Amino acid sequence: MASIVAPVLFIQCLLSILLTTTLAAPINITRETFRTCRPGNWVGIPSDCCPPKVIKGPIVDFCPQYDAAKPLRVRKALQCLSGHELKTYTRKLERGYALMRALPDSDPRSFKRQNAIHCAYGTASFIQDGSTNLTIDIHLNWHFLPWHRMFVYFHEKILQKLLGDPEFSLHFWNFDNSVTAKPRHGSHGCYKAGHFVPPMYNEPSKATFEANRSFMAFEPNRAVDLAFDLSQWSPVLGPPTFPNNTVEEQTRMNREIMHRSMITLGNTTSFIGKPYRVGDAQILIPAAGAGTIEMLPHNTLHAYIGGWMMQPGTAPIDPIFYPFHANMERLWSVWRKLGYGNDDPTDPDWLDATFLFWDENAVMRRVKTRDFVDLNALGYRYEEVNDASWIFFDNSTSPVRNYRSRVVFLSMLPDQEAHQMSFMQNPKILAGY
Ligand code: C2O
Repeated sequence: MASIVAPVLFIQCLLSILLTTTLAAPINITRETFRTCRPGNWVGIPSDCCPPKVIKGPIVDFCPQYDAAKPLRVRKALQCLSGHELKTYTRKLERGYALMRALPDSDPRSFKRQNAIHCAYGTASFIQDGSTNLTIDIHLNWHFLPWHRMFVYFHEKILQKLLGDPEFSLHFWNFDNSVTAKPRHGSHGCYKAGHFVPPMYNEPSKATFEANRSFMAFEPNRAVDLAFDLSQWSPVLGPPTFPNNTVEEQTRMNREIMHRSMITLGNTTSFIGKPYRVGDAQILIPAAGAGTIEMLPHNTLHAYIGGWMMQPGTAPIDPIFYPFHANMERLWSVWRKLGYGNDDPTDPDWLDATFLFWDENAVMRRVKTRDFVDLNALGYRYEEVNDASWIFFDNSTSPVRNYRSRVVFLSMLPDQEAHQMSFMQNPKILAGY
């Protein structure tokens, strides 16, 4: 199937570049957007992460080129890595990150600069071309899923390049699966539960480790809380009261959260997030713009992990950002296959939005959302995992009822939110306790 589809996609991609008019209403990031970048902020926390104002060299349109003769690369689930495979992967990732961290700040592929570009796109540093006040954010609207797929895509390409290994693939953190099941007959997938912080990201001697996290992220067998409420971080009340659930209780709630975000609440219009086009004001309230999985488990897990991960200005400083986001975009592809009429937007203002990313050769690429909706056309796929753990969640007896108050946080009023967010400026919180 993919072998027929991919060349067609490539031609479509070339055509769509030729046909793009200047009257388009989708968001297009351009040289001008970079030129007018300015210090931004996220809920009042200032950021200063603009890339150089002048983009040197050409901007080259990106078209996925899929080689039908080659099998798709597989991004695998971290929790099933063991033995020789684990050793090889860890060694490669270690080397990749060492090389990436060693690049000078002037190199857009450096670890630091990758955080900076996410920061610029995520803290209102860019403004719409020709406007003086319409700030851009790739969170809390329909650009969230495609933009982060692009970001992780180029991150992986850069690692491949630095390692000299074009087959290198990132793994993903399968935080949504909390049920270890027997593999289906003939399946080569990973059916182990993955609801804890992956051990290699918690190992102080590893390049994938980050000390700036909340303490419960370090508890080896603790089930992460997919409904974790950001407002729990209070400078007044001290460290959050983390739920003291048994693994059983917690994972049951997690399965319900997943079921709700992916199925019950995640229909075609609510899953991707609200439109954000030229002329629109930035959406600042999560509940007003974010798609269902951006709210839970995405925002909630960022808060749960804490430290750098708590804000868009710093999140990719923690290497766990990448396997975490690989799973986020995997969930998008799972959602498309679930049925229920689930489908991506057909609105050209979504499909024709373009973003700029430096690629593995430090060349600036113009990347279009429509080229990132089908990950197989990008040359990779995800290992099969136990999504059935939440797909078939029985919601007749709902533990999430007790969680209502937390979920309400996600739809609270703007001033309440500003209040909650001011907690985040507490230095203790920024240091991850
Ligand atoms: Cu741009 Cu998980 O955030």
